[in-house]
Amino acid sequence: MPSMEQNGPRNTTQTRKQKPVLKLSNQPRGAADAISRREIVKKQRESLPIASVKERLVQEVKDHDVLIIVGETGSGKTTQLPQFLFNAGFCPNGKVIGITQPRRVAAVTVAKRVAEECGAELGQKVGYSIRFDDKTSSSTRIKYMTDGLLLREALLDPYLSRYSVIIVDEAHERTVHTDVLLGLLKNVQRARLKSVIDHAVVNNKKASNGITKEEEKGAELTNFLKQCQRKFPPLKLIIMSASLDARLFSEYFGGARAVHVEGRQHHVDIFYTLHAETDYVDAALITIFQIHLEEGPGDILVFLTGQEEIEGVERLVQEQLQKLPEESRKLVTVPIFSSLPSEQQMRVFMPAPAGHRKVILATNIAETSVTIPGIKYVIDPGFIKARSYDPVKGMESLIIIPTSKAQALQRSGRAGREGPGKCFRLYPESEFEKLEDSTKPEIKRCNLSNVILQLKALGVDDIIGFDFLEKPSRAAIQKSLEELFLLGALTDDCKLSDPVGHQMARLPLDPIYSKALILASQFNCLEEMLIAVSMLSVESIFYNPREKSEEAKTAKKCFASPDGDHLTLINVYRAADELLQKRRMELGIEKNEKNIKGKNEKILRKWCRENFINSRSLRHACDIHSQIRGHVEQMGLPISSCGDDTLQFRRCLAASFFLNAALKQPEGTYRALASGQVVQIHPTSVLHQSKVQCVIFDELVQTSQKYIRNTTRIDYLWLTELAPHYYAMQG
Ligand code: CDP
Ligand code: MG
Repeated sequence: MPSMEQNGPRNTTQTRKQKPVLKLSNQPRGAADAISRREIVKKQRESLPIASVKERLVQEVKDHDVLIIVGETGSGKTTQLPQFLFNAGFCPNGKVIGITQPRRVAAVTVAKRVAEECGAELGQKVGYSIRFDDKTSSSTRIKYMTDGLLLREALLDPYLSRYSVIIVDEAHERTVHTDVLLGLLKNVQRARLKSVIDHAVVNNKKASNGITKEEEKGAELTNFLKQCQRKFPPLKLIIMSASLDARLFSEYFGGARAVHVEGRQHHVDIFYTLHAETDYVDAALITIFQIHLEEGPGDILVFLTGQEEIEGVERLVQEQLQKLPEESRKLVTVPIFSSLPSEQQMRVFMPAPAGHRKVILATNIAETSVTIPGIKYVIDPGFIKARSYDPVKGMESLIIIPTSKAQALQRSGRAGREGPGKCFRLYPESEFEKLEDSTKPEIKRCNLSNVILQLKALGVDDIIGFDFLEKPSRAAIQKSLEELFLLGALTDDCKLSDPVGHQMARLPLDPIYSKALILASQFNCLEEMLIAVSMLSVESIFYNPREKSEEAKTAKKCFASPDGDHLTLINVYRAADELLQKRRMELGIEKNEKNIKGKNEKILRKWCRENFINSRSLRHACDIHSQIRGHVEQMGLPISSCGDDTLQFRRCLAASFFLNAALKQPEGTYRALASGQVVQIHPTSVLHQSKVQCVIFDELVQTSQKYIRNTTRIDYLWLTELAPHYYAMQG
């Protein structure tokens, strides 16, 4: 058991008296329940800290075209501000208020909540739009979306003319998309203003033809400008952040106005472990039960690093529960992570059944993006999964790194929203002092090829000269330009190539995946590549519970292809698809579509359970598949299958993933050819411990070792044949 040392209120947040926060009782059942729920939601809204400064905030937005709002998490910024603005008439002539979120889950769950608060059906007045999922309509006025999606919209509508207000939320997260979006919005604001002035000048010239006096001409112009501004209102830009440091954003926007919205925070006791933990997952598990068995009522929030870890802990908790006496088993687990199917996401907001305690297993999404009511205990192992990029080697990898101090404070704050709470940091106090103050912005630690491709498509040719909030290193920009050039997306003079570069920019995927799809249409294996790319876009299709490890391995063998993981994933997808096809034929006589869907879901879940397949991930992959297929069809790429000729498919992988090729070394490890790094095939790969000489891989993951994940066997000679511009050059 991790021994905990209490450290008084030194690192705790301040105590302040607050109005009691209303808790939702159980889910509504009948009409009366619906009314009472509406009442409760209304009261909850009125009791949020932001409600008391509504008029002031609306006035600030009226007075300033750029406004920065800093506010404590849970104060009501994301859910309330768009509604205040809508009610204050900020959507003239059908214009839309857009709110960007760095995370898909936040966009979806908040949109659902706000739709409920407005008493509107989701997708009508309030909607959301995220990659591969759009719930908006022509009547949508409050639109939540990911920052990446708004960037994509700018490709089709460079003035973002549908929007009257854009709120860039969670700006402190500093995702690469948020950073680029801010630069873009600055340009959009300027361009819109310029078009208003141009319009006014032209019209004024016409109207003032007969006027001779200069001052009358001036007055006329001012008059026109006002008229034009009414007709084309400027784009209001609001930047919202949970971090107290608004200076960077304010300076970037020429000294823009910043306001602070106060939250309410109760006292949180912080506990540290006495010694460093060797296995934080294990320590988290022990702490969950320690709280469950020894502490008073209140839900637990555990911060983990990703889906796989969350699902692992979920199973371990279930397993441990079975060992407890009946009366101690009243504990329910609820996961929350980015790729969780949207209908399951709302479960975190529902109260646990009476007498039960809820354990929320979350990624850092629950740090500031999503506020979950009812939390009294926070378990913080102190880690996050982050992208890391080495511009010299051109290698991006996913690594598990310690959180920053700012993140640790945000996490502990989650325990004190509704009353005093406790936070268990699973590391010694001395480690806290060593943490970085804040996390390095993503733009400084990721591969930029995706962003550069989009900026180029938006007409920004001089990437180094682009007005970034914080400039990425020149080396990183150059390496990414080089990668795009090698993929054929850029011409010699660094312009988007036609058609490949333009096609790649249109696909909402990583440039290498887009290239693989484009090439696959030439290699007659687009059917297969669509499946592979969809399956690679989700985390962990297979699961391997500790206690049934052997069974899981045997199940996986049924799908395994000796050629590697890509074909193995395709086998899984096809097996599931066949199962459903068969069922559809059997159930064909049933009239009720909904019934069929429900039954199919059940069958699929059972099949997944038996085969140790993650049904959540598989369903997500199916959604992605149908979306990308739509894009590819629209682009007119011929879709055909290579059938049993999987050689074609593997050659196509070699032709597109050639930058991710690795060659076996005499001592058994592999060497990534582009970067020269020594890597190993990940233990979850079907090629782990095989004797394959050359592979391509999907990603590099760094834990204690450098692992390549999702690998497929290729012939070394294909590299010089299919990517001569790179491999012939290397000699
Ligand atoms: O953006 P900020 O962190 O300031 O707060 P918010 O996300 O607007 O949340 C305000 C309140 O709405 C919190 O009390 C949340 O618990 C609640 N909320 C909810 O109950 N269900 C959601 N899906 C989203 C928010
Ligand atoms: Mg928020």
